[in-house]
This record gives sequence, C-alpha cells and structure tokens, in this order.
Amino acid sequence: MHAITNAKLGDDVLDEDPTIHELEKISCEITGKEAALFVPSGTMANLTAVLAHCERGDEVILGDQAHTFLYEAGGISSLGGIHSHQLKNQDDGTLALDDIRNAIRTENVHFPRTRLICLENTHNRCFGFPLHLDYLHSVRSIADENALKLHVDGARLFNAAVALGIAVEELCGPVDSTTFCLSKGLSAPVGSLVCGNTDFIYKVKRLRKVLGGGMRQAGILAAAGIEALETMVDQLALDHQHAKVLADGLSSVDGLHCNPEFVPTNIVYFLLERENITGQELVSVMEKNGIQFFELSPKRFRLVTHAGIEEKDVFKTIEIFRRVMDE
Ligand SMILES: Cc1ncc(COP(=O)(O)O)c(C=O)c1O
Repeated sequence: MHAITNAKLGDDVLDEDPTIHELEKISCEITGKEAALFVPSGTMANLTAVLAHCERGDEVILGDQAHTFLYEAGGISSLGGIHSHQLKNQDDGTLALDDIRNAIRTENVHFPRTRLICLENTHNRCFGFPLHLDYLHSVRSIADENALKLHVDGARLFNAAVALGIAVEELCGPVDSTTFCLSKGLSAPVGSLVCGNTDFIYKVKRLRKVLGGGMRQAGILAAAGIEALETMVDQLALDHQHAKVLADGLSSVDGLHCNPEFVPTNIVYFLLERENITGQELVSVMEKNGIQFFELSPKRFRLVTHAGIEEKDVFKTIEIFRRVMDE
C-alpha cells in the first residue's frame, strides 16, 4: 500500500511513467532480456507476444493443455489470424521432442507456415510442473534448426525457477520471449510483463496499443509489481511446501484421489471418487466451510496455495475435507 501511494507517476502511454520504467528495467535484469513491457494481464501478454512473432496465416505449435489454447478465448486466431497446431501435452507439461519435429511444416503451397513454438512454465493444467533447462535447450535446438521462434508463457515462471533451484535468467536463456505474471503467486493486484529483444518489444508495444492495453498513470500498479518482485519470491518455496502437505493430507482422505508426487509447485489436483456426491455438491459444501475452489472437469478439482495461506490453514483444510467426506 505504501509503495502504491508513494509511486512517482507519469503518462505511460507517452512513455513517461518512471515507476513503469523501473519495473520494466528490473524485469530485464531478472530475465536477462533486452527489453520488457508492462501489460494488464497474462492473456494480453501471450496474445501480443504471439502476434508479434507471427504474421496472419502462420502456424504456432503449442500444447493441447496450454492456457493460450484453452483459456484465452481463441485470441491468437480471432484477432491475429494465427493457426494453432496443438500437440499432446505430456503429464509433465512438455511436448515430446519428436512430436514437435514432426509437426513442423515443410514449404508447400498447401500448408500454413510454422513460425513459433509456445511452451508453458510452470504448466497450469499439467500439475504445475516446471520445464527443465535441458528440455528448453532441446526445444531451442529444434527451433534453431527450423528458423522458428520460441515463446514461453511464464505466468508462473518464478515458481518454476524456485522449484528447480535456478535463476529466472537461466530459464529464459533458451527462449526468444517470455511472459510472467505479477498477480499470481507474486501477489500483486494486476499486471504481467512481456520480455524479449528490443525490436520484438517494440512490436508488442504497438499491439498493446491496438488492444487498448496502454494505461496512463499505471505506475500505481507497477509500484505494487516492484514490491512483489522484491519481497514475494521467497514466499513461493513456502507455497510449494504447503501444496505438498495439502496433497499428502488429501491422499489419505477416503473418497478423494490425490497423488503428492504430482505436486511439484503450488498447484494441487485431486479427484472425487464417490458415486453418491456430485462435484458441484462437494464444491458447495466446502464453500460453506470457507474453502473455495471449482470443478475443472467432472469430479476433477484444483487447489492453489499462496501468500496468506499458512500451514495451519492447510491442516484445517485437510480436516474439513475429511469431515465432509465422512458425513
Ligand atoms: C499459464 C497461464 N497463462 C496465462 C494466464 C492468464 O493470466 P491472466 O489471468 O492475467 O490473463 C494464466 C491465468 O491463470 C495462466 O495460468
């Protein structure tokens, strides 16, 4: 709050907001990229990045569980005319390297042109698994061999770095562009960054303007973002620990299925394995007990640990699940 009320402000649409400049400079230092741009959301970050890499009619290779494919309203195709080529995501969030090689188009008047590979780190739908550096280097090699660009949706990039015990900059080394969200585990109220080389970020900035995403005195948001980067990264390790404790607990609740080995970061997936209660009934009885979540697909749910959830809250949650399932 103090950071927000004391932020130095200017008009960011005219490139005059010093706090936005500061946030973008810090983001370059953290990711090791030449340039960075603040945008209102992770969705706009991915959309502007994909549109900056591709022309209309180009093809992007991405996972069938990717956020950009599933949850971004088809923006890359409806607004960018970009064709998506979905490959099966493995459980660990990767795309099999041979699948990527086989998906790349040869030059042929019948085919769209493959232009870009998109990965997600950590992978939201794939249990929050982080992508390892050697995997990213392997995909980089395929991209280089085929003159393709490589983009990472890094909404939870800091979770990946913390889980792998390496610097964010290292994870960004093999990729042309990355996004990251300030508003997820890092706990800022709003905003994401797109990072890449200077020419790419210039294109992203034009696209942000096209989408109406330029914000005037946005330094109030950037101030919270800077605070998040400076103070919240250590919290992520604790969130991962809490998720593991939660998963261990849920795995012992009769009628639920949860595998703690599939909880590498802050996301806990579990299944309801009872015939006499629907997913919606579980959601609503848990909500009455103060635990909020939703059903992602029939009888499959996702819980997320974050700042403000302490170990005692995790134990209380497990206890409530146990009681509800026993009733
Ligand atoms: C992997 C991933 N990418 C992008 C986004 C989009 O972020 P936003 O909600 O800020 O648009 C999300 C949001 O949940 C996400 O999980």
